[in-house]
Amino acid sequence: PEPNRRQDRGIRPAGPVPTPPSAGTAPAIPFANEPDTDPALSANRAWGAQILARAPGSTLGMATIAEAMVKDEATLDRLVTAAAQAGRAWGGRPADERAALLRRAASSLASSRAELIEVAASETGKTIAEADVEVSEATDFARYYAELATDLDQVAGARFVPDSLTVVTPPWNFPLAIPAGGILAALAAGSAVVVKPAPQARRCGAVICEALWRAGVPRDLLTLVDLDETGLGKALVTHPLVSRIILTGSYDTASLFHSWRPELPLLAETSGKNAIVVTPSADLELAAADVARSAFLHAGQKCSAASLVILVGSVARSERFARQLLDAASSMRVGWPQDARTQIGPIIEPAAGKLLGALTELAPGEQWVLEPSQLDDSGRLWSPGIRTGVKPGSRAHLTEFFGPMLAIMHAETLEEAIRFQNATDYGLTAGIHSLDPEEVSIWVDGVQAGNLYVNRGITGAIVRRQPFGGWKRSSVGAGAKAGGPNYLVGLGRWEPDEGTA
Ligand code: ALA
Repeated sequence: PEPNRRQDRGIRPAGPVPTPPSAGTAPAIPFANEPDTDPALSANRAWGAQILARAPGSTLGMATIAEAMVKDEATLDRLVTAAAQAGRAWGGRPADERAALLRRAASSLASSRAELIEVAASETGKTIAEADVEVSEATDFARYYAELATDLDQVAGARFVPDSLTVVTPPWNFPLAIPAGGILAALAAGSAVVVKPAPQARRCGAVICEALWRAGVPRDLLTLVDLDETGLGKALVTHPLVSRIILTGSYDTASLFHSWRPELPLLAETSGKNAIVVTPSADLELAAADVARSAFLHAGQKCSAASLVILVGSVARSERFARQLLDAASSMRVGWPQDARTQIGPIIEPAAGKLLGALTELAPGEQWVLEPSQLDDSGRLWSPGIRTGVKPGSRAHLTEFFGPMLAIMHAETLEEAIRFQNATDYGLTAGIHSLDPEEVSIWVDGVQAGNLYVNRGITGAIVRRQPFGGWKRSSVGAGAKAGGPNYLVGLGRWEPDEGTA
């Protein structure tokens, strides 16, 4: 078997959250992706039920996030100054020492799986399955960046000089893996980190930091801050000791940061408007299932989610695909994460603005294949929506909705489908379902997106196998892909090293 496949179906332990490993015990083993929890095993379902029973009333992370609250600029300045000083010392430590810390971090994250899932479910509404893959990804980032840290030290004739202080501002939709990824990359490169979680996912940020502190990451090297005032956000971004920001969020936030501090090095993964093309040669049943999962898991709240499917030629003219898609989508169970059967969880806040419009209004010429409906009074539970008759240049063609909403467009030819796919301002993920190698090759050459997927869903990139990042407005800065070989290099600069040249 390939060592890098997620095929280990390890059984999760029942009982209390496992004790983290003691520092220094994790061996240096070659990289392999951490396995997800397999819900087919009854022991794992029992383990999940135990987590869900605690999740609604979970208080994990609360004390830590309360301690991290920063209310004034003087406190922020003191924390940033201490972190930058710690970062200067850390950047001078040997790569082996940094890699060892990252490997201990991997063990601690892996053994904190239950507690991390509990907080993601209770705080953001993620389902167990969706939070579970985040823990695997966070663990993968730690192990993979440990390897890259060592590689950085082995470049002949050049010395890598890391940033002293990296600010990490993660989003709420991947509240575990994305903060972990940014923090771990910066630590591996030799930088200190100040992390400011998204307001909707503060406790998730806190439990990630707790897992890393338990692994032995010093407090001044990893500082958690919670800012309740926008003025302080600007003070953090413009602080002269901040060397770089890793942002995952909207293109608008990246633009705001840039307007505050135009010379600021920014490594940002931003919005997407992602489409899957289905050609007449496709396995239509597989395509329908992949499109539905890519569009609706996590209620469509992934930057990688499919919000368009472009049907080519006879697929567009026949009803068959639309019927299969309707079946696939309407059989997905919508609910709260505390119900273990839930596949599509709640949206993060009651639907409002652009998203509410997308969930309730049709543009001229559009019809519902599946009309979305609000399932309870919270405003957060919506059954999935699918609209067809979407015209080129319309809002549903070009706008990211970030909710359980899919648009169907028709194209006469593959070339036209690629033009529709490329017409958006973004270029994050893209997919094609086709069993014709020539079609696939034309598509791969023509499509403008960072992550291309053939005959599978377009979410769930796996560290090292699928480095993740976008083109066009989906990425700001150097464009290095998270979980790929060039990511750490984006967190510093090279200087000639006379000693080894
Ligand atoms: N990395 C996440 C995915 O691929 C966003 O779905």
